[in-house]
Amino acid sequence: MSPSAYDYYAGGANDEITLAANERGFSKLAFRPRVLTGVDEVDTSTTMLGTRLPFPVALAPTAFNRLGHPDGEIAAARAAAAAGTLMCCSTIASTSLEDIALAAPDGARWFQLYVYRDREVTRDLIQRAEASGYRAIVLTVDTPRLGRRERDVRVPFNLPDGVSIQNLERYGRNDATRWGGSSSFQEYVHRLLDASLTWESVDWLCATTTLPVVIKGVIAPSDGEHAIEHGAAAVVVSNHGGRQLDGTMATIDALPAVAHAISGRIPILLDGGVRRGTDVLKAIALGAKAVLIGRPYLWALAAQGEAGVARVLEMFRSEIDLAMALAGVRSVGDIGPGLVERI
Ligand code: FNR
Repeated sequence: MSPSAYDYYAGGANDEITLAANERGFSKLAFRPRVLTGVDEVDTSTTMLGTRLPFPVALAPTAFNRLGHPDGEIAAARAAAAAGTLMCCSTIASTSLEDIALAAPDGARWFQLYVYRDREVTRDLIQRAEASGYRAIVLTVDTPRLGRRERDVRVPFNLPDGVSIQNLERYGRNDATRWGGSSSFQEYVHRLLDASLTWESVDWLCATTTLPVVIKGVIAPSDGEHAIEHGAAAVVVSNHGGRQLDGTMATIDALPAVAHAISGRIPILLDGGVRRGTDVLKAIALGAKAVLIGRPYLWALAAQGEAGVARVLEMFRSEIDLAMALAGVRSVGDIGPGLVERI
């Protein structure tokens, strides 16, 4: 990868405190495994908004997969479909949502939405996702502006030739390179995305789409409540992989209070710093139904394309299977709060 693309994937906002905290958060939790529970057969499967997942890990929405590998989102979609899991596709993908759907027609997909100031563009994106068989709209709510990712400022992050925001091509808003500034992408987000969104915008979105709406970027328990009040079908506890407000608490630390506020009314996903099957068990024990992975699949994609993403998903599956057996839990539903303690 070019240094600039590497930094774009790896980096977080400002001092990268939250980026580090996300991973570290998991190591502050310890298991209290149960023994002699008869774990000759362990069932790692779960369901998420009606979609069966063979194990509770799906691909997070990440922009510009073609910066990592020429096959980009197509490779990721095929690997996710082959593993039977869900891929969440970004608005800012470097492959159009239609081409992703065509490349892996059997795969389950959600569409991550950034709301453009131009609501007609936004509405059209939603309709296209519906027409291409996407099963949910994931509204990312932690990005009224792009966080200041200083790596992208020091080595200006600009898209190489041939990588653009394909979903926006037909509206003439696909080119993030022409906005100038120290990071042209930062400028793109600032100029084109709608920073005036409120919870009423979620009402608008729910009325605009026939699909379930998932709110991605919830950290405060009260926002979990708001999400339910405004019709969300699920929330993602996320701080955008430490790329937005630096100093935001780690997602695994934020999860218990959000889970308490939501108290089982809608499913919760978590992302940020999930690197091991054991991290997945910890997130589920504290109230998540499943997790999303961002960078683990991006690095795998950059290293080996579709085979790499397939491999990282298989690593998660087998690590979850082993961790469940060793923790004495036979099904995902058995993973409860008594399994972990803060140390
Ligand atoms: C992201 N993320 C993100 N989120 C989103 O809603 N829309 C997007 O387009 C992107 N793009 C994006 C690009 C890159 C390079 C990264 C690393 C992340 C955030 C992503 O969905 C997820 O919240 C985090 O990546 C989860 O943290 P980990 O697994 O990377 O630690």
